[in-house]
Amino acid sequence: MAESTSPRFSTNDVTVVFFLGGPGSGKGTQSANLVKDYGFVHLSAGDLLRAEQVREGSQYGDMIKTYIREGKIVPMEVTVALLSNAMADSLASSPPPAGTKARFLIDGFPRKLDQAVFFEATVCPSEVVLFLDCPEAVMETRLLKRGETSGRDDDNAESIRKRFRTFVETSMPVVDDFEKKGKVVKVQATGSVEEVYAQVKTGIEARNVHPR
Ligand code: ADP
Ligand code: C5P
Ligand code: MG
Repeated sequence: MAESTSPRFSTNDVTVVFFLGGPGSGKGTQSANLVKDYGFVHLSAGDLLRAEQVREGSQYGDMIKTYIREGKIVPMEVTVALLSNAMADSLASSPPPAGTKARFLIDGFPRKLDQAVFFEATVCPSEVVLFLDCPEAVMETRLLKRGETSGRDDDNAESIRKRFRTFVETSMPVVDDFEKKGKVVKVQATGSVEEVYAQVKTGIEARNVHPR
């Protein structure tokens, strides 16, 4: 008999929204709004990797540090396991209100086609892909400013250049693939935080995600 695997979480119980956009496009900023108004649990792949990097006893710490500074994509098994476990932890510790599905906003993931395929096959298929469209010049200005206080190893001109290259070569094909499947809500990210959020709301509500 052919072997079949089913995803860890069912779309009957869980709604997954992928949140994509270049580095500095404003994903983290807009996520805070979406958590407040729509009851999303926000999981940033980058934040989870940075936490794993400094976790005592992690076998991946040095590897993650190098990948992040070089703006490269960490091998997907590591990132997918962190996300899947964070989803399970959230469902166990703060289950959604009775009769509702848990909502997960997965920020900065998938950044490579193999991550998208592997996550949807083994963790949970996505419902919608929210994409912040932002010119590099705007992202660069925002990231250099963020770098004044973020303490991040990769908010410097050299790493930013490498992250932009990875975004164009490796991550945009993921957006294009989801676009072909009709899953993408595209929002211009150049306005003020409030202006961008107004468009984000319109976009996801058109996909049947309403405030809670
Ligand atoms: P991402 O998570 O996509 O890398 P962030 O949300 O961290 O981006 O935003 C990058 C930087 O730009 C942060 O310092 C943030 O305060 C700022 N920022 C976010 N959205 C806007 C906006 N619409 N206008 C101006 N600055 C913004
Ligand atoms: O999203 P964020 O800017 O916080 O990601 C920081 C870095 O984490 C990326 O440049 C990349 O090195 C790593 N990352 C990854 N795979 C992801 C998300 C982030 O390798 N899906
Ligand atoms: Mg971020």
